[in-house]
Amino acid sequence: MTPIESMNKIRSREDEVTPPHLYFNRRAIMRAGAVAATAATTTAAYRWFNPKIDIVNEAKPIANLKQQDESEGTEQIRGWQTDEEKTPESDIISYNNFYEFTTDKRRVAAVARDFQTDGWQITIDGLVEKPQTFTVDQIHSISQPEERIYRMRCVEAWSMVIPWAGVPLGRILDVVQPLPTAKFVAFETLLDPERMPGQKTNVLDWPYVEGLRLDEASHPLTLLATGLYGKQLPPQDGAPIRLVIPWKYGFKGIKSIVRITLLDKEPPTSWNRYAPAEYGFYANVNPQVDHPRWSQATEQRIGESGRRKTLMFNGYEEQVASLYEGMDLNQFF
Ligand code: MTE
Repeated sequence: MTPIESMNKIRSREDEVTPPHLYFNRRAIMRAGAVAATAATTTAAYRWFNPKIDIVNEAKPIANLKQQDESEGTEQIRGWQTDEEKTPESDIISYNNFYEFTTDKRRVAAVARDFQTDGWQITIDGLVEKPQTFTVDQIHSISQPEERIYRMRCVEAWSMVIPWAGVPLGRILDVVQPLPTAKFVAFETLLDPERMPGQKTNVLDWPYVEGLRLDEASHPLTLLATGLYGKQLPPQDGAPIRLVIPWKYGFKGIKSIVRITLLDKEPPTSWNRYAPAEYGFYANVNPQVDHPRWSQATEQRIGESGRRKTLMFNGYEEQVASLYEGMDLNQFF
């Protein structure tokens, strides 16, 4: 075996840390854990295990994108911006979780490359006064797209800082007018195995579904994102429209959404269905509550050496803690 072949073999084991369909292969997990722990220690090692691939987002710029006015000084207080270094665009668009295409993070961009989203529509229905179907342009005409620079913390203990473009979900919910009985919001990804080849496998139940409480969905930080780095979302990041909830683990950020339904009870969610003891409905970032199989105390910021401490609610405690007053946060994971 050549050194490259042997490194590739190790690299593929490192990738096994994450795909949950391999969770029950305990030997692979233990080996992978050991390799990942070593790999996380230096940038050089990180790059060795995750070689840079030249992937470019050639999508159009987001028209009429509103930059946050830094002079106001309120954006950081609201959590709409951070002065932490942004993760390079090339990393954001080449290291993805999107099981509808592949479970291999480094191949999502290539497999999803030709995913067509022309004419995309998103329907909002259920317990609302005015159910409606919107195009992405209509979403942008309801509320001017704005830039939000958020931390993103994956449940797998890696993180990024991403300049999203999007519209607060609450502004769109105002248009459809939730009924007083509406308490939860369910989200659904496109179901189309011909366009999303991963849906031909049974790695998850399809379509991918997610949910929020209505007050979480209406929080000003919750974004329906349509772009990143000022351009329309590339397929691998959830084109043309996905959810971003910066204080929750990344799996809540459902991609390529076609339906949003308001309900009076908690909807099922894909990862909770898959492993209820491991992935809760709330999934708020909490460094004190470990995943059953790994610590959540620290994280690997993609592109950085060493590990950094994970922050309660991913650093958005001031903005969102009041949503959970009276709840035992160690129980509602
Ligand atoms: N949405 C769908 N439809 N399918 C997925 O597999 N993966 C989730 C989330 N949304 C996923 C999804 C997970 S586990 C994470 S961490 C984020 O998307 C990753 O987003 P990114 O690839 O844009 O960084």
